[in-house]
Amino acid sequence: MRKRLLLALVASSGLLNAIASSAAIAGPQDFPQVERGRYLAVLSDCASCHTVPGSNQPFAGGRSIETPFGNLVAPNITPDLETGIGSLSDEQFEAAVRKGIRRDGSRLYPAMPYNAYTKMSRDDVLAIRAYLNTLTPVRNAVVANTLPFPFNIRTAMRAWDALYFTEGEYRPDPRQSAEWNRGAFLVNGPGHCTACHTPKTFLGGDKTDQYLRGSYLQGWFAPDITNDARLGLGRWSKEDVVAYLRSGHNRITAATGPMGEVVTLSTSYMTDPDLKAIAAYLKSLPGKSEGPGQLNGNEPPMVAGAAIFRDQCSACHGLDGKGVAELFPSVADSSMVRSDDPTTLIRIILRGARSVATDAQPTAPGMPSYGRQLDDAEIAAVLTYIRNSSSAAAGAVTADQVSKVRQDTATRPD
Ligand code: HEC
Ligand code: HEC
Ligand code: HEC
Repeated sequence: MRKRLLLALVASSGLLNAIASSAAIAGPQDFPQVERGRYLAVLSDCASCHTVPGSNQPFAGGRSIETPFGNLVAPNITPDLETGIGSLSDEQFEAAVRKGIRRDGSRLYPAMPYNAYTKMSRDDVLAIRAYLNTLTPVRNAVVANTLPFPFNIRTAMRAWDALYFTEGEYRPDPRQSAEWNRGAFLVNGPGHCTACHTPKTFLGGDKTDQYLRGSYLQGWFAPDITNDARLGLGRWSKEDVVAYLRSGHNRITAATGPMGEVVTLSTSYMTDPDLKAIAAYLKSLPGKSEGPGQLNGNEPPMVAGAAIFRDQCSACHGLDGKGVAELFPSVADSSMVRSDDPTTLIRIILRGARSVATDAQPTAPGMPSYGRQLDDAEIAAVLTYIRNSSSAAAGAVTADQVSKVRQDTATRPD
């Protein structure tokens, strides 16, 4: 269903219009501040969590956010006085967005990425507020969170903050270029890329020593986006990174699932200089991985996988696995195909995938689902084969891993 929700979200013109053009209805407010706030809200993707996919009430809250501890519902952040943020003072708004403190002084759960937004300045956050103030107030009382004990105790979040939260706006590194610093600010601040791409401790805090090295989330795996040659963006040019974030496609891969939503709502609206800054920053992050050796092509799963690939997959992905640029991913070059955690791959084969449509790339090609046609061992074999074809190497996928993802995703929306 996730796919449908996503498409519905994209199709909900109300939302896109609000994001793309609401500065036009700013009225008497300070136009430059409102416009700056609108763009910061795009960079921060505030709309994604605070809008029910498919509804035409952007920012009116009610979307359920899955966390490792249970589901949370994002509140209404339109300027409605009773059910929204209309009655918050600027101080209270800033405290919520940059410090994770609620209006009553208790703590927000870190599903609201205040630990990244703290890198924005007070001025930035008040600009976002000025923009939100221009929206039509929507009356929508949102039901409170449903976290199980003990995570329903907000005071526990004080301990969380002490462990994992460092308040403070971004300080540029004087040894680096202005472009690099802008990229670092975007990735770690408003863009909150770390929320999904940095592995988490059992309490959901960032494992800072594995910064952006890839993380499991909600039935997906968000891959390594450092410059690591095997698992990360080492074989992507800066232009490849920019194309992917702008259109959801490039010569290597396509965005789907949670990243598809990030692209449609946020990165596809970023300016070119900002996309280039993100690319320059990510490409500067050193990788570390020592890969396993390549599997021998005569091993039984490799032989079976090669045959399945030829019959079922090569029509789109090519016999050499190189695909067609911007249309069918190159499974031979995709580093995601070689992720240590194959969750996203298995999920894409089981359930199919539809990549995103953006202004820059209006057709979204689809990958069929093979969950009925191929059994767990066959899916494991074809994935083991593509992970070890061409020059690359990655651990074999087991039928057991496929079976786990099959069970896990059966109960999840697309
Ligand atoms: C990844 C999902 C996510 C994103 C992105 C997000 N939020 Fe939130 N936000 C939440 C959740 C969930 C809560 C409620 C947390 C809780 O109940 O402790 C929340 C709470 C809030 C609150 C507190 C509201 C109140 O009534 O106390 C404000 C204000 C807020 N968000 C504003 C924003 C703004 C502005 C942005 C963009 C800069 C943003 N949020 C982006 C998920 C998100
Ligand atoms: C809500 C979670 C989420 C957020 C936030 C997020 N990503 Fe992702 N990202 C994913 C997932 C999941 C994938 C893998 C799915 C796919 O490839 O379509 C992915 C894939 C990617 C890829 C492709 C990597 C590859 O090897 O194929 C890049 C590049 C990327 N993200 C960059 C970013 C950047 C830059 C940001 C911040 C602006 C960001 N992501 C924010 C979840 C997220
Ligand atoms: C009808 C054309 C078609 C066929 C047949 C097909 N695929 Fe795909 N495949 C796609 C498209 C389009 C995508 C991009 C979808 C997305 O990620 O949103 C894709 C994505 C993928 C990905 C994710 C790669 C990445 O970097 O994002 C993998 C892995 C994959 N396919 C493997 C296979 C395998 C294995 C088979 C055969 C069992 C197969 N595909 C058959 C069209 C096809």
